[in-house]
Amino acid sequence: EAFFKPIHSAAPPSPTKRHTKISVIGAGNVGMAIAQTILTQDLADELVLIDAKPDKLRGEMLDLQHAAAFLPRTKIHASVDYAVTVGSDLCIVTAGARQIPDESRLNLLQRNVALFKGIIPPLARYSPDSILMIVSNPVDVLTYVAWKLSGFPSNRVIGSGTNLDSSRFRFLIADHLDANAQDVQAYIVGEHGDSSVALWSSISVGGVPILSFLEKQQIAYEKETLENIHKAVIDSAYEVISLKGYTSWAIGYSVASLARDLLRDQRKIHPVSVLARGFHGIDGGDVFLSLPAQLGRGGVLGVTNVHLTEEEAQRLRKSAQTILEVQNQLEI
Ligand code: NAD
Ligand code: LAC
Repeated sequence: EAFFKPIHSAAPPSPTKRHTKISVIGAGNVGMAIAQTILTQDLADELVLIDAKPDKLRGEMLDLQHAAAFLPRTKIHASVDYAVTVGSDLCIVTAGARQIPDESRLNLLQRNVALFKGIIPPLARYSPDSILMIVSNPVDVLTYVAWKLSGFPSNRVIGSGTNLDSSRFRFLIADHLDANAQDVQAYIVGEHGDSSVALWSSISVGGVPILSFLEKQQIAYEKETLENIHKAVIDSAYEVISLKGYTSWAIGYSVASLARDLLRDQRKIHPVSVLARGFHGIDGGDVFLSLPAQLGRGGVLGVTNVHLTEEEAQRLRKSAQTILEVQNQLEI
């Protein structure tokens, strides 16, 4: 006998809400921080975890399932077999090597490209209409690699990019002004890493451009102070890695916010890694780096026409060059 008895003689109507399925590849520090934020924020009906280590994977799956009584209902699966990812709306790739203290992100490239050759083709095969979100480092080059290996249109291949660096930037500016980071509009663009570019000219706090705001408030401001804030952003990950071994919580929230705005068609603007050729004089090849982009159900809907000073544009082109030099050594 069925546990629940129908209240009508006819079968109940099937649910009309669209089913949302998210797959997270790599159940390490970053993948699990993203998975748990997705669960607490009720972003998916179905969450799939994939990893190369079956015991760790099953342990993580069970541990999350055991929180079911405290979370919105989400079906959680885990497997080493990509067949479970079939029909995903969003595939988030976090698998791969991470930096040891003082190691740069770019140094991870060869190891992670080799892994991507086994990860991206099955994802693309099982979920040909999905959006691919790349998080593994070096994220900009690996987003290019994922674009090539998947054959997807570029609007559906996105790197988490400087969404995280921009959050660190907003935190530090807010801290400096004793303000709320959510009131700070500020972008870091370019490489997620050492050559990132801070767009000082377009920062505003509560609609007030920051440079004139600082002058008006007579808060000690010098170019050097601003450069130090940007330097602190660049050093952030190195500092956290030297202290706790890896970064996880901030990237978890950063990627969950991208997932929400993509899947719920929020049309919000995030600095994320996109195919940047042709923007702000970037030429010389197909390069992915972060620019403020509008995100919705179709992926990247467009790139905003943010004004850059000549110095900022030059730094951005230099950042593109840094990524391209690394990329050109690749054989995919
Ligand atoms: P981790 O070592 O904790 O986890 C990596 C996981 O990947 C492990 O569980 C491992 O078993 C799995 N894995 C390895 N090869 C695999 C394969 N072929 N298929 C499936 N799974 C595989 O590392 P982490 O701290 O979670 O970092 C993961 C990646 O994310 C690193 O490259 C790191 O640099 C990057 N990262 C990026 C950002 C960002 O802002 N883009 C932020 C933090 C970390
Ligand atoms: C970050 C990683 C390491 O937290 O890219 O910035």
